[in-house]
Amino acid sequence: DMLRAILLYLSKATWARNLVTRWRFARRAASRFVAGDTLEEAIQAIAALNQRGLLATLDHLGEDVTNAEEAKRSADEYLELMDRISASGAKSNASVKLSQLGLVLDFDLCLDNMRRILRKASACGMMVRIDMEDSSTVDRTLQLRRALKGEGLENSGLAFQSYLFRTEEDVRASLAEGIRIRLCKGAYKEPAEIAYPRKADVDASYDRVARMMIDASQALGAQAPSPDGKIPPIVALGTHDGKRIQAAKDYAAKVGFPKQALEFQMLYGIRADLQNRLAAEGYPVRVYVPFGTSWYPYFMRRLAERPANLWFFLSNFFR
Ligand code: FDA
Repeated sequence: DMLRAILLYLSKATWARNLVTRWRFARRAASRFVAGDTLEEAIQAIAALNQRGLLATLDHLGEDVTNAEEAKRSADEYLELMDRISASGAKSNASVKLSQLGLVLDFDLCLDNMRRILRKASACGMMVRIDMEDSSTVDRTLQLRRALKGEGLENSGLAFQSYLFRTEEDVRASLAEGIRIRLCKGAYKEPAEIAYPRKADVDASYDRVARMMIDASQALGAQAPSPDGKIPPIVALGTHDGKRIQAAKDYAAKVGFPKQALEFQMLYGIRADLQNRLAAEGYPVRVYVPFGTSWYPYFMRRLAERPANLWFFLSNFFR
């Protein structure tokens, strides 16, 4: 639809970022989806989630860095972030975007940065989730993960998007390697040659791939997340869609898949009621917690997902 396309275009447009980030009310609206500017604020937000029985995955906002220095600094910030998680005892791991580590600039630069991150994560007993970005980055993302695995660094997980035609095959291959997967619908603007344009097809693909993940995890012994929250199970379903969640729960119950091995993930500030309910039912629930000052593209994708958020955004102007 038109509105989604416009908002996703604006999420990538420098002129729009420069404009919108100058508005105080935009920052105020974005704060619904962002845990704060600083690492300390994010760690406090995670403590509050942990108190509600929820796990977290911490994301330092930032993407599409423009030079090697910035990319290296992003990686350094992740090293610090993992130290803080460990020191604070937060039940959390980390999520990272490879474009933030220089993937689009230089593959080897990104590889170096991610290598440092995974070594530190390994020392912390943590898995790091690699977010999936627009379709032009999928091959390089898989290639980079494979290269690091070849060096013995296996503690990264992947995210896949059910709107892409290729995802079913990508997930099948990844499951065969025992990779931990987060399944989501996909948040970028993709052409109809490679992605389902109709929501019903994206949803059907989601349910199909979720069943595949449950079957594969069942065959591997259906592990739960680690009690310290640092290692997620094979199956993580990142969605706020009650129908997708119900379909996965029903299928899991039918095949005798344990609740403890079926992790649901949601974004900070979205459907807290559902997060609590699933946790009370006995499923692991992990909240994706973004923090930092580079909130613009993340915030715009959240607006694009739900037109009602646009009214929420504008209402902040009048407050
Ligand atoms: P859908 O969009 O159909 O929404 C279902 C319902 O959820 C809505 O009716 C509404 O109630 C609620 N909802 C959804 N979005 C909302 C919003 N923004 N504000 C308020 N309510 C909302 N994408 C990607 O491309 N790469 C990635 O790595 C990730 N990672 C990721 C991690 C986690 C933990 C989550 C939850 C999501 C992602 N995503 C992502 C984003 C994902 O692809 C998708 O864009 C959003 O989750 C919205 O889709 P839903 O599955 O929630 O369904």
